Amino acid sequence: MRTIIEPFRIKSVEPIRMTTAAERELRLREAGYNVFLLHSEDVIIDLLTDSGTSAMSSEQWAGVMRGDEAYAGSPSFYRFEESVQAIFGFRHVLPTHQGRAAERILCSVMVKPGDVVPNNTHFDTTRANVEFAGATAMDLVIPEGRIPSAQHPFKGNMDVARLRAVIKDVGADRIPFCMLTVTNNSGGGQPVSLANVREVSEVCRASGIPLYIDACRFAENAWFIKLREPGYRDRTPLEIAREMFSYADGCTMSAKKDGLANIGGFLATNDDRVAQLERDLLILTEGFPTYGGLAGRDLDAIAVGLREVLEEDYLTYRIRSTAYLGDKLTAAGVPIVQPPGGHAIYIDAAAFLPHIAPLELPGQALVAALYRVAGIRAVEIGTVMFGRHDPATGEETPAAMELVRLAIPRRVYTQSHIDYVAEAILGINETRGSLRGMRFVEQAPVLRHFTARFEEVAPQTASAS
Ligand SMILES: Cc1ncc(COP(=O)(O)O)c(C=O)c1O
Repeated sequence: MRTIIEPFRIKSVEPIRMTTAAERELRLREAGYNVFLLHSEDVIIDLLTDSGTSAMSSEQWAGVMRGDEAYAGSPSFYRFEESVQAIFGFRHVLPTHQGRAAERILCSVMVKPGDVVPNNTHFDTTRANVEFAGATAMDLVIPEGRIPSAQHPFKGNMDVARLRAVIKDVGADRIPFCMLTVTNNSGGGQPVSLANVREVSEVCRASGIPLYIDACRFAENAWFIKLREPGYRDRTPLEIAREMFSYADGCTMSAKKDGLANIGGFLATNDDRVAQLERDLLILTEGFPTYGGLAGRDLDAIAVGLREVLEEDYLTYRIRSTAYLGDKLTAAGVPIVQPPGGHAIYIDAAAFLPHIAPLELPGQALVAALYRVAGIRAVEIGTVMFGRHDPATGEETPAAMELVRLAIPRRVYTQSHIDYVAEAILGINETRGSLRGMRFVEQAPVLRHFTARFEEVAPQTASAS
């Protein structure tokens, strides 16, 4: 059979509240054209994020009921630890309430002011934690990883020559650890090859630099390796994941992605001394080491989710259904980051709306149109999120790329939901010349994308570029 079906039946449903175009127009204006400020009940298809939005399986809900809420030594923790160690193989596993807590503890223990942390591309919380510790976060993805239209099977790979040069320039003693983000979320959900993980590990080990993996989407990365890397077709996702982590000294993980859970994460390491320091900090800010900021029921849901996420039927469906949306858009000439990533499709809004200059926020204009036309919530990853605003002069600097991310929650939407999304985008594509740019009306000094308010630019002033 060529049709790839969802490898699950639906046992429990959550109604979607349908809205009218007039209602959506009203809600959009009330929200200042910022979809973060919408109520989720007013959204028909929510593609804001794949984080914490997974549908849990009946086995995970059974795990929730099994959850033991003992403060210390809960069996839920030991099931969680066993599940993590079976895949990741690290000696010490510290549960955290989500990924950024693992990053904060790692950076607090290992990073000092003046240090440099290389990564293929830092996710924004990882970058923020590195910078908060006084260090420089350096992105060393291969050049293809920075060009939306470039085709490469492993666009998330680190540029190893640049890594060598950075180690030589900065000195290994100023690099507390090196990181690889799998898949590379900020670079379009693109995978990292095992050959690249191995090579980065060799370079790091030769200089005594620990390698950490930001493992949020490790199963999706393992599946891309199986599909694309010579020599891995007959290996299971679990075997590939184990090999990937065998080259690392530790990892940070947000279980809200490939843990198939709604909350949770962990920090893992093989270093006994570092683990002790991290545990002390965990007790201070997260909780006792056998629950670390999570309820026992969350630990059980993650224990089961980590096993389910490596099932081949699930991964076949997951990666194919993301590509299904990407292929439909590509066939209609909609410019997207190529090839489709694991968890999301990224529309290149600058190429899609060339009549809207970067400072008139083409990504935000497209996000607003998606909601207006079809009640779809996406997120701008461009000048709104990463541009710079100088409060003294009012000067705006645009971001390097103007993307709109359509993140696909795991096991939540069916193929007909995705067909609906494609139809909406193809409809907008036909009248894209009529879309107007936007401008900020209000913005906060940090992380402005969450709370900013916008207005549409009058058609006659929208500048061509
Ligand atoms: C690559 C990557 N690292 C880290 C994080 C942070 O995880 P959390 O949201 O659980 O703090 C995310 C979340 O989206 C991510 O995508």
